[in-house]
Amino acid sequence: LTPPPPDAILQVMQTFREDRRGDKVDLGVGVYRDATGLTPVMRAVKSAEAHLVATQDSKGYVAMAGDAAFHAAMARLVLGGTVPAARIAAAATTGGTGAVRQAMELIHTADPRARVWISQPTWPNHPALAQSAGVEWRPYRYYDAEAGAIDRAGMMADLDGAREDDVVLLHGCCHNPTGADFTGRDWAEMAAFLERRGLIPFVDIAYQGFGEGIDADAAGLRHLASRLPRVIIAASAAKNFGLYRERAGIYMVICPPGERDTTQAMMAWLNRSSTGFPPDHGTRVVTTILNNPAMKAEWLDELTDMRERVNGLRAALANALRRETGSDRFGYLAAQRGMFSLLGGTDAQIARLRDEFGLYLVGGGRMNIAGLTEDTVDRVAAGLARVLCD
Ligand code: LMR
Repeated sequence: LTPPPPDAILQVMQTFREDRRGDKVDLGVGVYRDATGLTPVMRAVKSAEAHLVATQDSKGYVAMAGDAAFHAAMARLVLGGTVPAARIAAAATTGGTGAVRQAMELIHTADPRARVWISQPTWPNHPALAQSAGVEWRPYRYYDAEAGAIDRAGMMADLDGAREDDVVLLHGCCHNPTGADFTGRDWAEMAAFLERRGLIPFVDIAYQGFGEGIDADAAGLRHLASRLPRVIIAASAAKNFGLYRERAGIYMVICPPGERDTTQAMMAWLNRSSTGFPPDHGTRVVTTILNNPAMKAEWLDELTDMRERVNGLRAALANALRRETGSDRFGYLAAQRGMFSLLGGTDAQIARLRDEFGLYLVGGGRMNIAGLTEDTVDRVAAGLARVLCD
């Protein structure tokens, strides 16, 4: 064996853990934190777990593709009834990461020639998951760092190189790492392009509810689903249910009704040949919450609080940076959505932020906004202005 390639996010987690300074700030891995810096167990999750402890009478295996009630609840949450159940094949997976991995396996099994087009930049694990499933992938430009906005012309020029039946990986909302999301018009234009060129969208939606709200965050994906014959979806309950370590994920394939049963059977078989039966506890917590009106209402309230807190921190940081720099250079932070924004910076600048100021960002300057607190915003802004504007 030779050492595996380093993972940018895991490296930051490790170095942060080993840092003994009391005033260090973790702006690395994408987890939500409250005002005290804690990643809390949501109240609705506690209620659902208490209910499961009281009522669950077996820990026997679930079905190979997971619990059908979880599939149905997640299909409703993500797709909001835009697609009939007869067109949806689904399998529970070990988290959203497992969902992306299994979807890559499915793509490769269905068509070994298919290439997956991946935004540049993206979550660093996307290309790794394609590669480990044997899928050829190609980059497409996505972000104009100078403008703090999507590079639409670059994106379409690169995607013009796609062949029929290639797959285009899109972030459903809260683009990781840039926070720059499609508008409704972008989604409509993308749908028309994919349709015209015979391309298959693969939408990774890991942060539904963290951008504008549950339905607004899925609106683009729902538009694709209502228009195109085939759509692949990877969804995660890690962030919006705060179930990070429970690994509750799902992938769904929307297809013509005549293809659904074979697709479903293949997805179950792929689970069997990789992880076996999917984990159950987190998925059952999610199903319990989504099928119980009182728990669901409480969960939506908590999710709204989390989203508003992150958006409030975005505005506070943008203001503090405006004061520090006397410019609107970081104004895009307030308009972007989700946990992440990309502040730029060389490797040396990211290292200086860490060593001199105790600020931990992922390489390239990805910052987890949810890692800020009201108490750290000003100090973080001062460090960022000193180092990035030097
Ligand atoms: C992140 O991007 O930080 C999260 O999705 C955690 C992970 O698995 O990388």
